[in-house]
Amino acid sequence: MESIDDKKLPSHIGYIVFDGLDGCGKGTQIQLLSERFEKEGMKCIFTREPGGAPLAEKIRTLLLESYTSTLTEFLLFWAARRNHLEEVVWPMFEKKIPVFSDRGDSSTLAYQIYGRNSSELESEFWRMRELIYSGRNPTCYIFLEISPEVARQRANLRGDSTHFDAQKLDFYERVHEGFRVFSQHPKVKMVSVDATRSREEIHEDIYRIVCGELGWKK
Ligand code: TYD
Repeated sequence: MESIDDKKLPSHIGYIVFDGLDGCGKGTQIQLLSERFEKEGMKCIFTREPGGAPLAEKIRTLLLESYTSTLTEFLLFWAARRNHLEEVVWPMFEKKIPVFSDRGDSSTLAYQIYGRNSSELESEFWRMRELIYSGRNPTCYIFLEISPEVARQRANLRGDSTHFDAQKLDFYERVHEGFRVFSQHPKVKMVSVDATRSREEIHEDIYRIVCGELGWKK
């Protein structure tokens, strides 16, 4: 994974995805960031995947409550994503409002392809990515890095209950590897943040990265 300075910051509006293993503290960090921007009066929206739009939220319910097959799941995640883009993300682009999303396509590569051991879908993943985003990909991904061991421990402590959570350590190891592979792709800008530190330290890092990414001078 690269540092924030490695690639030129985009001049257009930001579409920033937060991702990581379950238990990485994404929810807390997104909350802290949204409160800070609200206090500062910065205009932006926070959304999530799967979901974020009415139809996509219905697909989310289906996805989280049952598992059918990896291919079905893969297609449903992309369908929910496209709906979310059309209904929420792209209209914000038109208004020049930055979008922050809790998860994105990085999770599809990590969970469906790597987590579920479906390497036969890996090339399809990159083709679907072109089709579904229609050239308007997320501008930056922030990866909250924790080890698979920590992820599994935290999921156990929380007593997580969806079928995505009820997994053994090797599942988390594969998902972690999927995120690593995603971050290495030439068309992806993913910044890794050490998520084992205090929530304040992590927050300051994320805030600095996001402001730099959006060209919000602080
Ligand atoms: P959620 O309860 O939102 O978990 P979290 O708070 O960890 O984001 O459930 C989302 C689950 O869906 C999560 O375990 C990851 C999984 N997921 C995929 O498998 N593929 C995807 O493309 C996305 C966006 C999420």
